[in-house]
Amino acid sequence: RKKVTLSTLSSMNAKKTPITMITAYDYPTALACSSTPLTDITLIGDSLAQVCLGLPSTTQLTLDEMIHHSRAVTRGTTHPLLVADMPFGSYQVSSERALLNALRLIKEAHVEAVKLEGGAEIAPTVRRLVDAGIPVMAHIGLQPQKHTSLSGYKVQGRSVESARRLIHDALALQEAGAFSTVVEAVPRELGKYVTEQLKIPTIGIGAGPWTSGQVLVLNDLLGTWSGHKAKFVRRFANLKDVRDAGIHKYAEAVRDQSFPDPETESYTIDPRVWERFL
Ligand code: KIV
Ligand code: NA
Repeated sequence: RKKVTLSTLSSMNAKKTPITMITAYDYPTALACSSTPLTDITLIGDSLAQVCLGLPSTTQLTLDEMIHHSRAVTRGTTHPLLVADMPFGSYQVSSERALLNALRLIKEAHVEAVKLEGGAEIAPTVRRLVDAGIPVMAHIGLQPQKHTSLSGYKVQGRSVESARRLIHDALALQEAGAFSTVVEAVPRELGKYVTEQLKIPTIGIGAGPWTSGQVLVLNDLLGTWSGHKAKFVRRFANLKDVRDAGIHKYAEAVRDQSFPDPETESYTIDPRVWERFL
């Protein structure tokens, strides 16, 4: 498949073809995201923090860690548009700092676009990046980087004010030049409404079936772990069981000495050479 561009996404949106986005965190997961022509966007999500680095939340992830992983994802990505999350703290201090940090992601990690969590308050920053030529994806609704100030990971937009604020934010971010926005954890009615109000495509996660596209965390959809499953996650595979069974069988075979097989799984030496050696 040809490289997905911003114009590919807007024509998909015009034709109402659902946009498929998946997260990746390293070279093999990037290859996986590129393994079908049906994927459109690969996101190096800051869920990297929990999924790969064992951190309790995304707020502790550093820009250097994001760059390190993004470089590997870039090497494994073929057709999908490559977007990286800007880590917490890398875009809040000033628009200037945000631009410098976004430029690091472009120049050191070779991503094509960046994603920022936030509403109308970050619109000037979005504008600054877009004016510099960096495509920006917005992220509204539940913003995991704000989990402490929000007292947890909660569905957003369930009150009149909260729903109104979401629409206000979405329009401000579109006006600032964002090419798309993630909409996380809102009632399905609001997911539909915000999609209808915007010209840019919405990528939903826990936002119901009527957004312009969907995104899931790769490890959630592949079932590589068996912890808490959010309501919006569907497991399309159960890799954890397959993987752990493989590890167990290997360890068993080492213990009972059935691995490696001397005939088929080891090397030989010419017996005459061996005799001289002895
Ligand atoms: O970090 C992440 O994985 C994300 C997506 C789930 C949207 O931001
Ligand atoms: Na994220």
